[in-house]
Amino acid sequence: MHSDAMLKLLNRQVDLEIFSSNQYRQMSAWCEMKGLLGCAAFLKAQAEEELDHMRKLWDFINETSGPARMGALEAPKADFESVIEVFESGLAHEKKVTAAINEMVELALSEKDYATFNFLQWYVTEQVEEEALFQTILERMHLIGAEDRGLYFIDQEITQMRSQLDSKG
Ligand SMILES: [Fe+2]
Ligand SMILES: [Fe+2]
Repeated sequence: MHSDAMLKLLNRQVDLEIFSSNQYRQMSAWCEMKGLLGCAAFLKAQAEEELDHMRKLWDFINETSGPARMGALEAPKADFESVIEVFESGLAHEKKVTAAINEMVELALSEKDYATFNFLQWYVTEQVEEEALFQTILERMHLIGAEDRGLYFIDQEITQMRSQLDSKG
């Protein structure tokens, strides 16, 4: 049902979602080591969400043309200078993911693959939320100041943001 080019991009997205998950889990370990347990929990939850994104794609690929296929993954970045760098890397990463999704949307449209086009709408919306979330966190970090006691308040703030998100579902 999909063209070879579309299938290739869908499979690439599977890898990208797994990589995202690995990247956030790795970032959460860095935060945990720094005693930023709120940030660590937030990033661990992000890592789980990325696996949900992968699972949705995986099922879609297999329900349509299949089979879904995993590729090799590079190791995620593990060392950071500061918690701001962690979240800046997160935002930069989400922008890359958005670009990859947009590329699939464009291909789906140009090939008149409306099933894939429709399926991808969920990802388009999700990326708007993900980018906005990282952007908001960074703005708060700059506002509060990410050093000394500021770090403590940032960690509290992120814990609160996460529980607000969870209660929204
Ligand atoms: Fe994702
Ligand atoms: Fe994401």
